[in-house]
Amino acid sequence: MNSLHSAIKYLRHLVLAKRPDSIQNAFVKEAITNIVKDNHQFYMFPVIESLRAQMLLSGDTIHVEDYGTGKSGNRKIKNIATHSLKSAKQAQLLFKLVNHLQPSTILEMGTSLGITTLYMSKVNENSNVITLEGSPEVAGIARKNFKKLKASNIELICGNFDTTLPDALVQLNPLDFCFIDGNHKEEPALKYFNLVVEQSSEDAVIVLDDIHWSAEMSNAWEHIKVHPKVMATVDLYHMGVIFLGITKVKEHCVIGL
Ligand SMILES: C[S@@+](CC[C@H](N)C(=O)[O-])C[C@H]1O[C@@H](n2cnc3c(N)ncnc32)[C@H](O)[C@@H]1O
Repeated sequence: MNSLHSAIKYLRHLVLAKRPDSIQNAFVKEAITNIVKDNHQFYMFPVIESLRAQMLLSGDTIHVEDYGTGKSGNRKIKNIATHSLKSAKQAQLLFKLVNHLQPSTILEMGTSLGITTLYMSKVNENSNVITLEGSPEVAGIARKNFKKLKASNIELICGNFDTTLPDALVQLNPLDFCFIDGNHKEEPALKYFNLVVEQSSEDAVIVLDDIHWSAEMSNAWEHIKVHPKVMATVDLYHMGVIFLGITKVKEHCVIGL
């Protein structure tokens, strides 16, 4: 992470962020209002968080092959759980967005220990969820976690996104919802986004994680905003929500949580 870049972007976010009521597009306004204002504690939240707590306590060490950072080596599971996962607040926001949209097909790029996968899959156990992870031992822990919570609607495909993404997109076609949470570099982020858009339903929603993590990610975000198939974007600072669809009036908002 580029800390100075993220700090500047955070200050900018504080200045620019508006309330969800300011959104013009009715569909986007309803979705974002729903996730930002809904304080409901769904029954799955403590269940998934207790699994996270187990990961945070685990002293086991596994070998991690990280295609995102290129830094492979041994890591304690508790360190992965501390540094590599979305927080409970962000993961629950994702749950609420999926709950509002009710997608039939969901793709996640970047499983890690499977915490966000579980949040998205538990909204509707009839949804078809594919999650992609490059590191075999990390994928092994995620698979165990899916078993522990009896999440039978998740298929984990292990391998580099470059080879696993095209097959996953064929299986899920058309894709309704995608969470991109791996490889935070400009060129791969744009490459994956473009591939995902091509196989998505007309009104799909794509969430890109860590849009202000580095200058490269902020550049990727600016390119995505002008993609012809993007109808609206919502910058929530930690993640960007992209609404596909054709409209004459495009809308790009910065919304505070
Ligand atoms: C930030 S973690 C995902 C965290 C998870 N979504 C959560 O919050 O619970 C990103 C994961 O993506 C995987 N990854 C990054 N680049 C990849 C690539 N090119 N191919 C496959 N996996 C990749 C890493 O191994 C890592 O486990």
